[in-house]
Amino acid sequence: MPRGGKRSFVCRECGYQSPGWLGHCPQCEQWGTIEEDLTPVAAARPTGGKGNDRHGAGVAVAAPVPVSLSEVTFDTGDRIDTGLGEFNRVLGGGLVLGSVVLVGGEPGVGKSTLLLQALLSMEGRGVSTLLVSGEESASQVKLRSVRLGGGSSGLRLVTETQTEAVVAALEQLQPTACVVDSVQTLWSSAIGSTPGSVAQIREVTAQLLHTAKTNGIALILVGHVTKDGELAGPRVLEHMVDAVLSFEGDRAQPFRILRAVKNRFGSTNEVGVFQMAEQGLIEVPDPASVFLEEGDMRSGSVVVPVLEGSRCLLAEVQALVAPTNFAMPQRVARGVDRNRLSMITAVLSRRARLPLSNCDIFVNIAGGLILEDPAADLAVALAIASAFRDGDAGRGMAAFGEISLTGKVRYALQSDKRIQEAARRGFERILVPGRNAEEAAKAGVTPSGMKIEAVIDIADAVRRNSG
Ligand SMILES: Nc1ncnc2c1ncn2[C@@H]1O[C@H](COP(=O)(O)OP(=O)(O)OP(=O)(O)O)[C@@H](O)[C@H]1O
Ligand SMILES: [Mg+2]
Repeated sequence: MPRGGKRSFVCRECGYQSPGWLGHCPQCEQWGTIEEDLTPVAAARPTGGKGNDRHGAGVAVAAPVPVSLSEVTFDTGDRIDTGLGEFNRVLGGGLVLGSVVLVGGEPGVGKSTLLLQALLSMEGRGVSTLLVSGEESASQVKLRSVRLGGGSSGLRLVTETQTEAVVAALEQLQPTACVVDSVQTLWSSAIGSTPGSVAQIREVTAQLLHTAKTNGIALILVGHVTKDGELAGPRVLEHMVDAVLSFEGDRAQPFRILRAVKNRFGSTNEVGVFQMAEQGLIEVPDPASVFLEEGDMRSGSVVVPVLEGSRCLLAEVQALVAPTNFAMPQRVARGVDRNRLSMITAVLSRRARLPLSNCDIFVNIAGGLILEDPAADLAVALAIASAFRDGDAGRGMAAFGEISLTGKVRYALQSDKRIQEAARRGFERILVPGRNAEEAAKAGVTPSGMKIEAVIDIADAVRRNSG
């Protein structure tokens, strides 16, 4: 529908607006994501704005009456326990009434399982709940709930994809907690475009948000992500909701991590760890060493204590180095950023004099973990160096530290936590940046049976590790 005679175009991924069609979005750099904006002018209202027509020129608008902050009351008991401690932890202590949480994740990672488990648990404790399923039939949901041990629950279910009908159901049933699975399957009759398009997602979310806020419902929306891990649909969705959680994990592996990307009511520093099993997701309250592979460490494998929010996890970096058969050697990274791997390889070649330019390099993080902590650099470098020499120097040893382009190993945050965690798991040696070693010595925190070794630069670390 043309907007006042003029056509306008919008990027499906980031919401970038353009007066003409483009093949490539200049904002998010994606190809083929620009489509015609079919939002009618009347529907393009501010988030959840049902009241006055702000677009109508000359319409009298009453000024809102301000309230004094001192008169505003709130109840700290307004958080709902989801029944899953790890989920509560990521939310900042439970679901907040009248808030909207978006849970994103790749297909099959377990979003529907997690949220159904939470709903079943809440329903079991007398919280009024509702599941809106636009993706699965009632019998499919029943099948999953039987697997999760909640086949006879009184959980109410609506299989509906039209937003106006969902809003009517919410207003009539007045649940305390509601899950909508998924936001991309919903559509609104106010918009002419197909479900999942930018205009539809924006409109659907605005309507649901308004209903949740005015009725005090804790609403959870499920959102799909693209292969790059971005939420499919406009980034504006992330701005509209109160919290964005991302559910990550390798489908071939049992462990899943729930991470807060944004949270208006809690820290974004917390992660929740789960294990996918036959009977659903099992919480892992002490996840420090679940990502380590069993048995002896081999050549090309080094352990790093990484920070995941306020927790410390032990991750195993595995590397394989082999002579290349190609003109351009391969650099394959799973669980670490590929550009970071290229940088570490270049630093190893130049600063530690390892001739890696004719080698294919493969790096993998065991257990499907994705490392974002820069302090993992040293372990990646040592795993590559160990794989190159085919030595097993990683045995009984952990390492952490960020590597700079000059080859220096830089200070890492919270070294006491990292050292303690490695010691708890029985590591006897840990290579740490010089300043971290000084800090540990000053604080007198060296755990018994552990040797803390300060490394100056990458060449020094490689030398120590080959002894
Ligand atoms: N019987 C089972 N035993 C163990 N794991 C199972 C079993 N059935 C399903 N799963 C796990 O549950 C996952 C599917 O979970 P779920 O349907 O909740 O994912 P989802 O994120 O909602 O997927 P989608 O994006 O397709 O909706 C499967 O990938 C599998 O790992
Ligand atoms: Mg699902």
